[in-house]
Amino acid sequence: MSFSDIVPEHIRQIPIYKSENPAEEIERELGVKVVQLGMNENPFGPSPKAVEAARSYMEHVAPYPDDSGFFLRQKLAAHYHVSMDELIISSGSSDILAMAYHAILSPSAEVLTGEASFIVYYQLADILNMRILRVPMKDYGFDVDAMASRVTPNTRLIVIANPNNPTGTIVRRRELDAFIKRIPDHTLVILDEAYFEYVGDSEYPDSLEYVRAGRPILILRTFSKVFGLAGLRIGYGISTRDVIGTLYKVRMAFNTNSVAQVAALAAWDDHEHVQKSVQLNRAGLEFLYKGLAKRGLKYVPSHANFVLVELGRPAPVVTEALLKQGVIVRPAWGCPTCMRVSVGTQDQNERFLSALNKVL
Ligand SMILES: Cc1ncc(COP(=O)(O)O)c(C=O)c1O
Repeated sequence: MSFSDIVPEHIRQIPIYKSENPAEEIERELGVKVVQLGMNENPFGPSPKAVEAARSYMEHVAPYPDDSGFFLRQKLAAHYHVSMDELIISSGSSDILAMAYHAILSPSAEVLTGEASFIVYYQLADILNMRILRVPMKDYGFDVDAMASRVTPNTRLIVIANPNNPTGTIVRRRELDAFIKRIPDHTLVILDEAYFEYVGDSEYPDSLEYVRAGRPILILRTFSKVFGLAGLRIGYGISTRDVIGTLYKVRMAFNTNSVAQVAALAAWDDHEHVQKSVQLNRAGLEFLYKGLAKRGLKYVPSHANFVLVELGRPAPVVTEALLKQGVIVRPAWGCPTCMRVSVGTQDQNERFLSALNKVL
């Protein structure tokens, strides 16, 4: 009898997650420099100040990290005008998603989200054998009206990425206000704002207002995107004391490392780097829009650092052909004819568009 024979059926059913080979290996195979536009990272890297802070901290890694993440939580809490008990740091915001799923787990608990969103929302439900309702998208965005109508007495979590990955759309203030009003207190709404810093829309909601009003809303943000620290795994969540206190009960101790904590502190203070990254991202998006339109491709205008392209044919055929040209992009989860392209440097964006010429 093998180990896989003794695990529950729902675990056996999970397909093994296959991430790409590292760029270096693909480069060796193809003999060309690979362009990584598949992970929505910051192509300009982290703030040099964060790199320096991390480098100098390496001499102090013998002790365990500060488990409370005191200084980072203090800084973030002061910025957001919330108490430190209303804030949790984590090993990436995905880590807090996992905590929330674990905290509400019971045989009847249900999760509600959209059909085309961040893969981790679905993976967690599969791993924990939870019922998950996927409400069809409307114009590539969350149909929050339809979602509110699907809430049941067992709905414990609603997960909304705002901006959404992979579509780049946002739910605007008026829509979100109306939605939140319809959600009963037995449901925790998670607003996953991993791409928050990139949004320039004046109707983008200030989700902190819900928390200040005492609503059970959990806001997730991260240092993985505009701050360019995805490799260090650090993110944070803001919610009521009640919600954050509960998450603390189910988290693993020492879940953020000390180097990540000091790098995040330094990255947070480098406003110039963040601003520059946001500006270059906007310019990159415009450049990609023009290039896609010129090639007759439909795209969804994005509020984040990636763009969804509607190919009108199965996306893996195109993404695999692009990979052979040394360009990594992804088929979009929940939309079989769409691919998601991260905004790169000007050079990377040009390489993507010229590879696209060869592939189409
Ligand atoms: C919507 C969304 N949430 C969360 C994450 C993951 O963030 P982290 O690196 O903080 O776990 C991503 C990463 O792609 C994302 O797209």
